[in-house]
Amino acid sequence: MLDFTYQNPVKIIFGKEKIQDVAGEIPPDATVLLLYGQGSIKKNGVHALTIEALAGRRVIEFGGIEPNPSYETAMAAVNVVREKGIGFLLSVGGGSVLDATKFIAAAARFEDGDPWQIMSGAPIHDAVPLGAILTLPATGSEMNTNAVISRKSSADKLYFSSPLVYPRFSILDPTTTYSLPPRQTANGVVDAFVHVMEQYLTWPSDAPLQDRMAEGILQTLIEEGPKALTDPHDYNVRANIMWCATLALNDLIGQGVPEDWSTHMIGHQITAMHGLDHAQTLAIVLPVIMDVKRDKKREKILQYAERVWKIDSAALGEEKTIDSAMAKTREFFETLGVRTRLGDYGINAASIPAIIEKLQEHGMTALGEHADIGPDTIREILERCL
Ligand code: NZQ
Ligand code: ZN
Repeated sequence: MLDFTYQNPVKIIFGKEKIQDVAGEIPPDATVLLLYGQGSIKKNGVHALTIEALAGRRVIEFGGIEPNPSYETAMAAVNVVREKGIGFLLSVGGGSVLDATKFIAAAARFEDGDPWQIMSGAPIHDAVPLGAILTLPATGSEMNTNAVISRKSSADKLYFSSPLVYPRFSILDPTTTYSLPPRQTANGVVDAFVHVMEQYLTWPSDAPLQDRMAEGILQTLIEEGPKALTDPHDYNVRANIMWCATLALNDLIGQGVPEDWSTHMIGHQITAMHGLDHAQTLAIVLPVIMDVKRDKKREKILQYAERVWKIDSAALGEEKTIDSAMAKTREFFETLGVRTRLGDYGINAASIPAIIEKLQEHGMTALGEHADIGPDTIREILERCL
């Protein structure tokens, strides 16, 4: 096992009717900026519950944060934070609202020029405290240090990470996810699944606990994901998916093991240039990376095949077992309704060079757990994604 230091301070408040406890988690004297997306919280009642829970507090609202949140919109919120002396940010919505909130928290206290520099690694020294009411299980943002922000003007989608933007708390009420459209439910399951795979499907590092935690999350998502589509109001199904998504990317299963993240880096650029949902890009890229990297990932793909999909590798032989594990993975995404080919979204070979160019511009030329996925391999991967 590799060495690690792990500290995760996020207070998770999980269960039905927990939104009503939100005021107790926020300093009483702080002016709160309630951030939200494009209206889902007004339709499903979460906005009303939040406002009711914050009765008597000074609350200002900022809505309109888009999926794949933009720097441009976030900067409008930064102005509000500065002008109104906001002391606490409350994100109410999915990963996009929360990621934007994290960026706003850091950008509002960034004094070294244009806050976009945060997205290329400029150090941050302070952030407005924040908390979350999560309505979409997918990103793990509710219990991690990451935020992914897009810049419309330059078609960039980049991430930053800082312990200063850990939420102080995250309220996870699975009933808030009943209203998710099937597409977003499926996206969430796929995103959580791929988060686990990025921390699991590398090389064996004698970390059987991390492996089994990862396999447990994958198996739970395979069992529960389809149920959420057939019975969206099943509380336990929604609760299990929500907890899986948090554990998939609160960095616990990645401690002491190598990590990949190439599917995400390539996927982010596809979203930035073509507008696909985050999970759609992952469903396209992951199965192909498994194939292109089948030799370097061989031992873990075989373990995945045997333990997660119960494929009998002794009977089938190694190559066919790997083929079968890849096919099962792709089929799982498709069964959830997430298409797995670039062509399914109208993207053809002509788009590939620009994606590679952008990745190069951002120094993403040595991706993967072996840092051996460069422009040529990315081209091969994207061509096989068509
Ligand atoms: O904007 P509203 O009206 O709220 O609608 C949203 C949005 O249209 C809707 N929605 C959310 N909760 C709902 C709901 N609709 C009905 N009922 C509910 N309960 O769903 C749509 C998608 O929401 P969004 O927040 O964009 O989805 P998600 O949570 O999947 O977040 C995606 C973003 O997170 C980034 C992605 O790249 C993408 O930008 N990621 C963040 C990560 C992190 N912070 O660690 C890691 C991930 O790998 C990912 O990159
Ligand atoms: Zn993701």
